[in-house]
Amino acid sequence: MMLGAVQFGLFAAGVVLFVPMGMAGWHLSRNKMLFFSCALFITLAVGVHLVPYFPSVTSFLSSSSSSSSSSSLVVNRNSCFPLLHQVAFDFQELGNNSERGSWKWIESENVVDCDFQKLTKTDTSDLLNGSWVVVAGDSQARLMVVSLLELLLGKNEMEVVKGDLFKRHSDYNMFVDEIGMKLDFIWAPYVSNLTDLMMGFKEKKSYPDVFVMGAGLWDMLHVNNASDYGVSLKSLKDSVVSLLPVSSTFGNEDRSETNVVPIRSPNLFWLGMPKLISSMLNTDEKKEKMSDVMCEAYSDELYRSKLLQQSGGPLFLLDIHSLSNNCGAHCTDDGMHYHGAVYEAAVHIMLNGLLIESNQKL
Ligand SMILES: *[C@@H]1O[C@H](CO)[C@@H](O)[C@H](O)[C@H]1NC(C)=O
Ligand SMILES: *[C@@H]1O[C@H](CO)[C@@H](O)[C@H](O)[C@H]1NC(C)=O
Ligand SMILES: *[C@@H]1O[C@H](CO)[C@@H](O)[C@H](O)[C@H]1NC(C)=O
Ligand SMILES: *[C@@H]1O[C@H](CO)[C@@H](O)[C@H](O)[C@H]1NC(C)=O
Repeated sequence: MMLGAVQFGLFAAGVVLFVPMGMAGWHLSRNKMLFFSCALFITLAVGVHLVPYFPSVTSFLSSSSSSSSSSSLVVNRNSCFPLLHQVAFDFQELGNNSERGSWKWIESENVVDCDFQKLTKTDTSDLLNGSWVVVAGDSQARLMVVSLLELLLGKNEMEVVKGDLFKRHSDYNMFVDEIGMKLDFIWAPYVSNLTDLMMGFKEKKSYPDVFVMGAGLWDMLHVNNASDYGVSLKSLKDSVVSLLPVSSTFGNEDRSETNVVPIRSPNLFWLGMPKLISSMLNTDEKKEKMSDVMCEAYSDELYRSKLLQQSGGPLFLLDIHSLSNNCGAHCTDDGMHYHGAVYEAAVHIMLNGLLIESNQKL
């Protein structure tokens, strides 16, 4: 019965989606922006909210869409995911302290074909309407929250929130009323804190729709042991994998399973460490402990842990290292925390990642 309602919803979505497309015909490119925000609303709503609950929807969708597949909508996951980080920063605008428009996707043919979009406040609100977003980690994670909230609330309203958000080493929770979105920032400076968090979700059988996590800087400064870091990354990976949905549970007629709450698969992201510029770090302890060699060792452990999709794991990397390195030394004052444009780009990369993921499922 539940599934019938979902199918009807998807059919309706399909009509809304494909009929205007057919009517638009070759005008599509001219109307692309308009069309896209409509498509975004539907695909993202379906992708973020419904698909994780009902994996069988995925197979329904793939069987129905194969007959009506449209080349402009079917974004090739494999070819576009690796291009998400292909952005360029505009230093001139950064110099004028203007964060808007200070970065963009590069305009190579491959990247243009992927149709990445900077989402507007409205698109983002549609996307995250009714969802639960958790961002957990160290100071990088906090900067990510700032960028996400600036997009959702606007710069001015964000100023009010900033004071609370930047209370040192504290959690921050907010509910964005207009879109019923719950956002939690959780101070989790060590990877073990992230693992505990995963376990907590599992215990409560309650998972966020979007979960962005990342820890490393704090660990490097206060523990400074890459192999220990690697060990904790592996146990985080195990805890994440252990609560991802088992597809065989669905379509399983065994009624003894009916009291098991269906596990949805949250959209999981790893927030990478920034490029550290030793000479700019603001204490001698940092200069000593956060050396290039140590950064390299921490980064090696991350890949070895197989936590990331790039190495066959469950988390999609938001590559702050590549973005910050790309932005360069004039985008940071302390060699560690970068200009808002870097985190703004990361937010849009994440949102476009969600979009590709849901298009793939359609
Ligand atoms: C700031 O913007 C003005 C024009 O709006 C431009 O002439 C100037 O070069 C910019 N300054 C920097 C440092 O980029
Ligand atoms: C959020 O979704 C609800 C229904 O689920 C809708 O009434 C509301 O208008 C949406 N808000 C925004 C800002 O999209
Ligand atoms: C994070 O983990 C460390 C070490 O396991 C622990 O001492 C600390 O209390 C935890 N912090 C939080 C905020 O959970
Ligand atoms: C890192 O920690 C492990 C044990 O947890 C220890 O054997 C090793 O010597 C430490 N490495 C360094 C460089 O301190």
